Amino acid sequence: MWVRNAWYVAAWTHELEAGRIHARTIIDQPLALYRAGNGTIVAFEDRCCHRFAPLTMGRLEGDDLRCMYHGLKFAPDGRCIEIPGQPRIPQSAAVRRYPTAVVGSWVWVWMGEVGAADPATIPPSVALDDPVYRLKSGQIDYAAHYLLIDDNLLDLSHLSFVHENTLGLDMPQWADSRPRVVPLARGLRMQRWLRNHSPRGFMKKLGERLDVWNSYDFLFPGVFLQRTGFYPLGTAEANGGQEPQTPPLFHRLDEQVVTPVSNRVSRYFYAAGARVGDIDPDRLDRLFAVTETAFQEDKAIIEAQQKTIDREPERQMLPTSLDAGPTQFRRLVETLLTA
Ligand code: FES
Ligand SMILES: [Fe+2]
Repeated sequence: MWVRNAWYVAAWTHELEAGRIHARTIIDQPLALYRAGNGTIVAFEDRCCHRFAPLTMGRLEGDDLRCMYHGLKFAPDGRCIEIPGQPRIPQSAAVRRYPTAVVGSWVWVWMGEVGAADPATIPPSVALDDPVYRLKSGQIDYAAHYLLIDDNLLDLSHLSFVHENTLGLDMPQWADSRPRVVPLARGLRMQRWLRNHSPRGFMKKLGERLDVWNSYDFLFPGVFLQRTGFYPLGTAEANGGQEPQTPPLFHRLDEQVVTPVSNRVSRYFYAAGARVGDIDPDRLDRLFAVTETAFQEDKAIIEAQQKTIDREPERQMLPTSLDAGPTQFRRLVETLLTA
């Protein structure tokens, strides 16, 4: 069961080369994607309406796509505009088209009813070439259901354990403190101070001890928009544990999104970095290398967890106070599924 009326990320914009048809699958639905001349992204169901040959085996002719089985040709709006040897084209000759939008550096596809698609509901994300930030990006595939990855992102206590040598190095605060959970329209906002952190590496120049403000919005289907501010020790106390109003010494940005491909395959797109003035390209390389190592740590434990679940799917999990975020988000997903 999938939530159809939602925007899903199909690709980074830089993945979609002009003049090529790209195959992607979202919620079990194979798609044929291409870039039209005016830059807009066309997303068709990967199925010709004639005899169901995949359109990804077709070819582009300008902005149109020709199915290379019997030659029917389709305009970017999905209408058939040519049937070889048949002058009359029936009204019903069309392939299914999905609404698309580019926001930040992600290509979003609306998988539900065309009339219900509203690009204004796509969460804002920072483009990779935004002049304020220095960012790097990547993606990995998981052999796991997307909600297991969502659970992981909604409970950062795992940083102290899964990532004890990477992102959670010397940071028991991730497991020992609990975030404030604020409900949003299609997600949750998680915020907290991590107090008295001793930074490593080049971050040491900021101070021996720091307070860290961590805040992220997590939105359906798995959009993770995180800001982490590093502050002088005592800032958490001075702000009474509330959100700081002053600019941080170092501002880290992490933006990620999980796309369900099928029941046991998910694609994870991520970008990480900091403000241009905070980090030079070398240090960004190092920060990003640690981050990507951490993502492999997540992948290892989540894929293993998926296998354990599938061995005996009826077994019940044990809830703890760590699960507030994942539990509330699962409830929201249930509501969306019912709708
Ligand atoms: S299947 Fe596409 S033209 Fe026949
Ligand atoms: Fe993780």
